[in-house]
Amino acid sequence: MKKVLIAYSTWAGATHEVANEIGKVFQANLFDVDVIAANESKSVDTYDVILFGTSIHAGQTVKSFRQFIKQNIDILIKKPTALFVVCANMMNDSEEASVSSATGKSPRKGSRSRNEISNLPCCLKK
Ligand SMILES: Cc1cc2nc3c(=O)[nH]c(=O)nc-3n(C[C@H](O)[C@H](O)[C@H](O)COP(=O)(O)O)c2cc1C
Repeated sequence: MKKVLIAYSTWAGATHEVANEIGKVFQANLFDVDVIAANESKSVDTYDVILFGTSIHAGQTVKSFRQFIKQNIDILIKKPTALFVVCANMMNDSEEASVSSATGKSPRKGSRSRNEISNLPCCLKK
């Protein structure tokens, strides 16, 4: 049976709940699933598939999520992985912000999206 790790980073618990629901889907498909807080997950290399998720607060991913990626990047790049994000909104849906997101050009002050998914790799630089 393939082993799946779902590592979550949460402030108030919603991302934990989402991780549990994802875990149920894997279990129903006969995977051996561990749902563990990212800052408590160890032996990541013993899993066949790794999912990791975070909520967004004030435009930022949770610190333990960024640490999880940094600490395990050598393993993560060798395994099947998936990322999930729990938040209020991913995009400012104004036309200007959408164009900015698609083109990479800076929008005018005041129209910038706080949580564009394309910003997520920035967490690795911090
Ligand atoms: C203080 C606070 C700040 C938040 N900041 C953002 C934000 O900047 N962008 C966003 O999309 N959602 C934001 N949210 C919404 C959370 O991401 C959302 O409620 C999420 O479900 C929380 O998940 P958690 O309980 O796992 O931390 C914020 C929520 C709170 C309470």
